[in-house]
This record gives sequence, structure tokens and C-alpha cells, in this order.
Amino acid sequence: MTALAAARQARAPFDARADGLAGNPPLTVYASSEVHSCVAKAVEMLGIGRRNLRLLDSWDGRLDAQVLDRELAAAHRHGEHPVAVVASAGTASTGTIDPLDEIADVCARHGVWLHIDGSYGAPAVLIDRYRARLAGLRRADSIAIDPHKWLYVPVDSGALLVRDPEPLRAVFSVVPASTSPNCSLPGSANTPPSASTRPG
Ligand SMILES: Cc1ncc(COP(=O)(O)O)c(C=O)c1O
Repeated sequence: MTALAAARQARAPFDARADGLAGNPPLTVYASSEVHSCVAKAVEMLGIGRRNLRLLDSWDGRLDAQVLDRELAAAHRHGEHPVAVVASAGTASTGTIDPLDEIADVCARHGVWLHIDGSYGAPAVLIDRYRARLAGLRRADSIAIDPHKWLYVPVDSGALLVRDPEPLRAVFSVVPASTSPNCSLPGSANTPPSASTRPG
């Protein structure tokens, strides 16, 4: 959800945070039909809408880069605006790895955010057998990874790695006046509040 919030803000052709989605072209997100259900939950909660999550079927369960390419090209003709592709680096149900490099090429061609769900499988890049198939991880705009899985961290933990921190700031940053270094409190002229004078 954090990654798709950043993608929505960074790749929508309008300011989603300021204007909301109403009255603007539908934003669309693409993934294979095997993608984890958390993606559907995220698009619902972000107001993108479940109908705008396009789950592309293929005979082997992998996200087909050529089909994706055609879908992204068609979306613009239909007045939709693709913002993100979620590729899987190991699905929860079958361990399927999408063709990450081919998908990254397509995303670059269409200016779409590439999120890779490596929650389960990303650490396999450290193993010779999977290094080449997971090499496309390096091209993602964001990667989700769950250290409590193959990294054996003994408590539930989810992490998001981003290529560029700026889109996260753009979508989440709020600086209330009371915590701004430029805030002037009564009696303190323009001096920034110190920890002891800052309201709790
Ligand atoms: C491939 C994959 N993606 C996403 C998730 C969801 O991860 P989380 O529960 O950390 O949101 C899981 C959890 O099992 C998963 O295996």
C-alpha cells in the first residue's frame, strides 16, 4: 500500500493528494492473476478501485510482458492512466517469478512505476540458482520484502525499499506548524522552539 501510494502520487497526471481521484481519468494498476491479495486491498484503500486492478492471466501464471505492453498501450486509448505494475518475485501460492527484466523494459517504455513484491522470494537473489532470474530486482522503483520470511527475523516485519525517497516524501510528508522549525510561538519572536518550549 505504501508503494502504490507513492506510485499514485508520482505517476498520476494530476495531484492525487491535493485533488483526489474524483473527476480525473481512472488510474490503473497491473499484475498477474497470482499476485498477493494485499495488492487488491491496497488499490481499494487508495481509492484506485478494484475494477482498475487489471490481473492478467497467462498459461504459466507469470505476468506476460508482451500482453502487459499491449494493455498499457490500450489503456491510454481508453482514457485510463496506468500508474503501476506489480511484479512478483515469488508468489505466495506457487513461488512463481515474473520475468522482471522484460517487465522493467515495458514499464520504462510507458513511464509506469514498477513495484516488485519480493515479500517472500527476493532474498533468493543471494543464491546462485536464482540470481539471474531475480536480477531485475535492481530495476524496480520499489521492492517489498518481509524479513521474517527467508531472512529469519523472529518477529513479523515488512519492509519497503525505494529507489528514490522523494516520492514517499511527496505523498506522506505533513509538517504541522507546531513542529516546523520556522514556527514562531507567542513570546518567542522568530526563534525556533527548542525541545523544552515545543508544545507536546
Ligand atoms: C508474496 C507475498 N506478498 C505479500 C504478502 C503480504 O505480506 P504482509 O503480510 O507483510 O503484508 C505475503 C505474505 O505472505 C506474500 O507471501
